[in-house]
Amino acid sequence: MKSALVTGTVTGIGKALCEELGKQGCNLTLIDIDGAALLEQRTALQAAHGIDVLVCAADVCSNSAVERAVREHVARFGGLDVAVLNAGVGERGDYLDPAIATEALEKTLDVDLRAVVSGARLLAQLMVQRGNGGRIITLASAAGIFPMTAGPYYAAAKAGVVHFVRSLAPRLAPHGVQLAAVCPQYVDTPLVQKMLQHQPEVAKAMMGPLFGQPLLQPSQVVAVIQQQLAAPLPQRGRRVPFREAYAGAGCVALLLQNGTVVDPFAANPAHGALQQTGARVVTSNSRTSSSSSSSSSSSSSSSSKQQPVSALAAASAASMARFSSRKAMQGFAAQPLPKAYSKLQVVRLSVKFAEAVQRVTVPMPLPAQLPAGTVLVRRLFVGINASDVNYTSGRYHGSAAAAKAALPYDAGFESVGIVVAAAPDAAAGLPVGSAAATMESGFSDYALLQAP
Ligand SMILES: NC(=O)c1ccc[n+]([C@@H]2O[C@H](COP(=O)([O-])OP(=O)(O)OC[C@H]3O[C@@H](n4cnc5c(N)ncnc54)[C@H](O)[C@@H]3O)[C@@H](O)[C@H]2O)c1
Repeated sequence: MKSALVTGTVTGIGKALCEELGKQGCNLTLIDIDGAALLEQRTALQAAHGIDVLVCAADVCSNSAVERAVREHVARFGGLDVAVLNAGVGERGDYLDPAIATEALEKTLDVDLRAVVSGARLLAQLMVQRGNGGRIITLASAAGIFPMTAGPYYAAAKAGVVHFVRSLAPRLAPHGVQLAAVCPQYVDTPLVQKMLQHQPEVAKAMMGPLFGQPLLQPSQVVAVIQQQLAAPLPQRGRRVPFREAYAGAGCVALLLQNGTVVDPFAANPAHGALQQTGARVVTSNSRTSSSSSSSSSSSSSSSSKQQPVSALAAASAASMARFSSRKAMQGFAAQPLPKAYSKLQVVRLSVKFAEAVQRVTVPMPLPAQLPAGTVLVRRLFVGINASDVNYTSGRYHGSAAAAKAALPYDAGFESVGIVVAAAPDAAAGLPVGSAAATMESGFSDYALLQAP
């Protein structure tokens, strides 16, 4: 990485990130509202790392100022491949306090949401237009995933960023542009320190069960940002399949209080919990971040004492893993197929279900010989309702004569199951392991169905 643009750089996570990028010889454009601190930061970064640093003293809410900084960055460094939208502010007061003007509270929405969405738009347009791909990393928050009752403006803004990223990332991916959100729990930065020092009661309400637990270090957040920056760029020209895009998997990294990194929207829960306690953060492919190793020994010893936090994190990860049951479904799909299966057939017309139906056993279709366009579904749940007795009595066939002529016919309607085999031309749309809801012949162990 030759150059990067970072917002909110003079303290906290942004400052730690710029140090790390500077160490790697990356030239930087820094945008921060604190102009004096920005000039000092430039001098320090240039002296420590010999890099070229542009500064822009501006409020990120000013679209024109951000646009100017982007233009200057491109002119100076010959392009813009990486941007980290990190600037942020906390909740500006109590939501229900009548003494606080709504406009004051709305600053949180402006900085934490509007500036991110509009800033990313500018960057995305530039990257798509230039056609070389690129990376836009946003700093959202765990408050964008879990509720934060004492910070509703902040939570709304950060949830907005998370959903924005999940919505836009699949659209940028075919252009080779990565859009991601990093969502830490509580980090030891001025944002949190000020609250702990000056408003401990607010901090208690805000942090809930995490109050009093060790804070994450900025270096741990930087390690997660670095992982995002090291991930392969999306493949240009490859459209993200709807299922993947809908899940939003892979573009949100949640950093829990104990150092665990979780993809809360992972399609496969086995990849969702990238488990590691302590200060070291390890990804699914076991890359270890050295930037955070300095505090690993103290954190790993404290993590064993911090059982409640670990338990909470594990519970959070487990509950998020339930967002997707793909692993369980693949387990079902992997079970060997029997030679035959059972189904209920209507053999005589009657409103008395037990009199109308009979269980029959039929041969299992061979997976290798499925007719074109079909999938074999193993049923796990079926629906039973009033329609079934209407069906067994022949009322859905137009006339009793038509119903009699159709005997025997398969009983049942709705079901939910798993695709266990697919004809080659149906496998791309409904691969083995997919969940399938069906609307016909529900009372059978298996069903051969036309793929949509
Ligand atoms: N600290 C945490 O616990 C925590 C947790 C989750 C997410 N985050 C997010 O991480 C990001 C960085 O937070 P931090 O903890 O390092 O905070 P911080 O207060 O230490 O740093 C924020 C930086 O943004 C700058 N900034 C603030 N408003 C700005 C504006 N309008 N225009 C330009 N610059 C502005 C500040 O001057 C500062 O340099 C924020 O988006 C924050 O919401 C923080």
